[in-house]
Amino acid sequence: MAPEKSLRVLVVGGGGREHTLADLCSRSPLCREVHIAPGNGGTGEPFHRHAVAADDIDGLVHLADTQKIDFVVIGPEVPLSLGLVDRLAEKGIPAYGPTAKGARLEASKIFTKEILEKHRIPTAASATFTEAEAALHYVREGSFPVVIKADGLAAGKGVTVATSLEEAEKAIKESLVDGVFGPSGEELLIEECLIGEEASIHLIVSGEDYVILPTSQDHKRIGEGDTGPNTGGMGAYSPAELVSPEILQEVDELICRPSVQALAAEGLEFKGTLYIGIMLTAQGPKVLEFNVRFGDPETQIILPRLETDLLTLLVACQQGRLAEVPLRVKDNTSLCVVLAAEGYPGSYRKGDPIDLSQVPTGVTVYHAGTKENDEGQIVTAGGRVLGVCAEAETLEEASRKAYAACDQIHFSGKTLRRDIGAKQLRRQGSPIG
Ligand code: AMP
Ligand code: GLY
Repeated sequence: MAPEKSLRVLVVGGGGREHTLADLCSRSPLCREVHIAPGNGGTGEPFHRHAVAADDIDGLVHLADTQKIDFVVIGPEVPLSLGLVDRLAEKGIPAYGPTAKGARLEASKIFTKEILEKHRIPTAASATFTEAEAALHYVREGSFPVVIKADGLAAGKGVTVATSLEEAEKAIKESLVDGVFGPSGEELLIEECLIGEEASIHLIVSGEDYVILPTSQDHKRIGEGDTGPNTGGMGAYSPAELVSPEILQEVDELICRPSVQALAAEGLEFKGTLYIGIMLTAQGPKVLEFNVRFGDPETQIILPRLETDLLTLLVACQQGRLAEVPLRVKDNTSLCVVLAAEGYPGSYRKGDPIDLSQVPTGVTVYHAGTKENDEGQIVTAGGRVLGVCAEAETLEEASRKAYAACDQIHFSGKTLRRDIGAKQLRRQGSPIG
């Protein structure tokens, strides 16, 4: 392991996830300084912020090289699938995250589906299509709801849960005829709609070794009561009690262990985060998707709950020594409420000044779609603007703290869901559920 305070770390990305990663890395005893590219309005001092985009692979390799970076932590999926880890390795710079080969698990849903089916890992039944006529014929013969997925990366917009034939036809035509997702939508996966509650299971995988991070539940729809269009995630909490210790053991036996073994058997040499979206159905847990990076906003509530030093864990994973670092988790609860810009997930307001002067203590505000304008003022600059996060002994307390802070943060068009964690609170019989 690296000596105390020796590592110059570069975090790649500019969302709430990356602000969290930068914050936690900067607290590590291994860390000397944290650089971030491109970062956001919250990642100025004490971090070193560089205006290099997360998909500018040449620019990032050059930055890591010239800044003498010792370890790179990559947040988003795009640079992973563009081979940033591979390119950094050519320069001898170690990075946390899979190579382009491993990142295909997120970059192609069909590739993942084939692996899941081959290794008999429970997932929704599906069929693949490249021709609109065949896909339309398939949905006309089938039942609803049905799920239409663009094969490739589509910034979280490539999945439609179609409740009617009209919706299914529209999704198929948009992808295969109109090309709205470009090459990512040239192949479609049409799958059975799974019914149940969703949970996010994050693993840190290093070859055949893995650890399961705390469970969490995201809130993907824009509207309260899980209504309206899908977003990147409007809030999350951890742990997700619906994944009881018994269910987690079942998830491990049926999904986590066989998945890690499958990736090794397929020669993916996977090192990094495997974030498995799971549906807990009446027939048992089933895989919705694989992601090859930490969830956002799940990162904001899972990683601060680790007692184990995050950077130590990530470095050990990259070096193939994951088994040497015991994972310790705080016995508490955390909750994050996303404050979004008006209009999100459609086109949204930008440039509104944000007043953060009244944030109560004991709450952490991670920046996402923010920037510092020319006058040094923090203004909105993205769809999901801030993640307001609180840890507490109980979910009820974490919720009260986070929402009290949300009410003290002001910007025009502030949009939030008031029911983050409400399902779990109701199950606990809480009056605020
Ligand atoms: P994905 O990007 O594959 O996770 O899909 C985004 C969201 O669509 C998931 O979080 C689910 O809410 C929903 N979804 C995806 N696949 C299915 C499925 N087979 N059945 C029901 N809902 C699904
Ligand atoms: N919160 C969902 C995701 O990061 O994909």
